[in-house]
Amino acid sequence: MARKKHIEPEAPAPAHESEVAPAEKQGERAWQAALRPRTFDDYIGQRELIENLRVSVRAARQGGWALDHFLFAGPPGLGKTTLAHVIGNELGVAVHVTSGPAIDHKGMLASLLTSLGEGEVLFIDEIHRLTPIVEENLYPAMEDFKFDLFIGEGPHAKAVTMQLPRFTLLGATTRMGLLSSPLLDRFGFHWQLRYYELEDMTAIVRRSARLIGVTVDDAGAQEIARRARGTPRIANRLLRRVRDFASVEGTGRIDAEIAASSLDRLAVDHVGLDALDRAYLTVVCERFDGGPVGVEAIAASLSEERGTLEEVVEPFLLQVGFIARTPRGRVATAAGYTHLGVTPPAKAPTGGSGSGQGRLF
Ligand code: ADE
Repeated sequence: MARKKHIEPEAPAPAHESEVAPAEKQGERAWQAALRPRTFDDYIGQRELIENLRVSVRAARQGGWALDHFLFAGPPGLGKTTLAHVIGNELGVAVHVTSGPAIDHKGMLASLLTSLGEGEVLFIDEIHRLTPIVEENLYPAMEDFKFDLFIGEGPHAKAVTMQLPRFTLLGATTRMGLLSSPLLDRFGFHWQLRYYELEDMTAIVRRSARLIGVTVDDAGAQEIARRARGTPRIANRLLRRVRDFASVEGTGRIDAEIAASSLDRLAVDHVGLDALDRAYLTVVCERFDGGPVGVEAIAASLSEERGTLEEVVEPFLLQVGFIARTPRGRVATAAGYTHLGVTPPAKAPTGGSGSGQGRLF
């Protein structure tokens, strides 16, 4: 059987400037990775979750057992992959990274599971996209660290049960609702990651600026943070763009003025909506008269994938209270209209904050 290893080396010591500079030349992914926190102490925000993880990791280390399987849910960019690396680092074990769509047959799963060492972490991103067959074969691996294989073909095929090392499965999903209950039941806990508070986002921007060697004042960091839709990955991306403007057109130093003018030019507005968010809101308000309208119709109007709208655009618009979900479809709220500079019709709901922090199970 061909073995494809999805292994990432144990995360090195905490990031510092000298690691980020070479990553600059390797593109966005490497750059983001270089800015990732490596330890619980480095991690800003998601405090309840981090404290729970600290306890579980400490207990696993003290008891000498593998950490339980955990599932993280939430919109892209909130730190699900980062958490897997932090956990691996804190446990002192390797993290093997893969994704639901990459495990496209049972043999691939067997190959991954048999390449794990004792106590190591297998991180499956987009776990809601596993095929039913792969998912069924994952159950005994999660529960009993066993994997059933058939060796040979036809009448001579033999069933063999392989004993796997005790490992930790960390799953991540942007679509908790698409996970089957048998899979959910096999996780020790699931946690819904929340958009980060402004204060935490500001601290993340400051930390990243320090790592890339850029001077940013408090108001500048806050301006970037405010427009990063509560998402560290976006904050780091915007910081990089603002840094470009500041170094080419300014003194290299980031203050509120250069941050605001650069982000205006990049079409990121003062609450963090980008062109697609505004197009979504405009379609609901103008073409569909404020709704209710189904996501399929909005996707068709925007020539966008329904999944992108459901996983990326809608969670934030719900969070800031610009849209609401009703049984008959999405509706624009009064705040949504106002944000577009349009007087809301009397029927527009006043809206409210959508998402809440997850709970331990
Ligand atoms: N960079 C990206 N996410 C971060 C976080 N949660 N804490 C610190 N730095 C980060």
